[in-house]
Amino acid sequence: MATTLTINGETKSFDAPPEMPLLWVLRDILGMTGTKFGCGIAQCGACTVHVDGKAVRSCVLPISAVANRAITTIEHVGSTPSGAKVQKAWLEAEVIQCGYCQSGQIMSAAALLAATPNPDDADIDAAMAGNICRCGTYVRIREAIKLAASGRQS
Ligand code: FES
Ligand code: FES
Repeated sequence: MATTLTINGETKSFDAPPEMPLLWVLRDILGMTGTKFGCGIAQCGACTVHVDGKAVRSCVLPISAVANRAITTIEHVGSTPSGAKVQKAWLEAEVIQCGYCQSGQIMSAAALLAATPNPDDADIDAAMAGNICRCGTYVRIREAIKLAASGRQS
């Protein structure tokens, strides 16, 4: 069945059943592999993308639910004001270890900063709670979010 979605500001048309999760479309149909598959049951955050600016888990989101909505992925988040700050801070704080969880982490952090420009620890904990990192980069993630919020990046 033909479906059209708006992804990173571009119109994408493809054949897929309406119940197919957005993550499958991104990775398997459109070849956008920056968004990762982790658990497939909304428990790890690896598949996080933005829908109308909000962080959502694309592994459990049927494409029928996102027609006519603005989808942003890790491939494009650096073009948004909060995404650009977050990506720069991530590099400065050297957050990344194996990297597998990190596109999801960056998407959650960018959505947080867009909604809450100066988050406190509780805001950060609440926004990032659903993003699991098996390498344990949580301390550096918090540091990078604060760096991005402060505007003190070099
Ligand atoms: S793959 Fe979607 S939350 Fe884990
Ligand atoms: S950096 Fe390895 S899982 Fe997070």
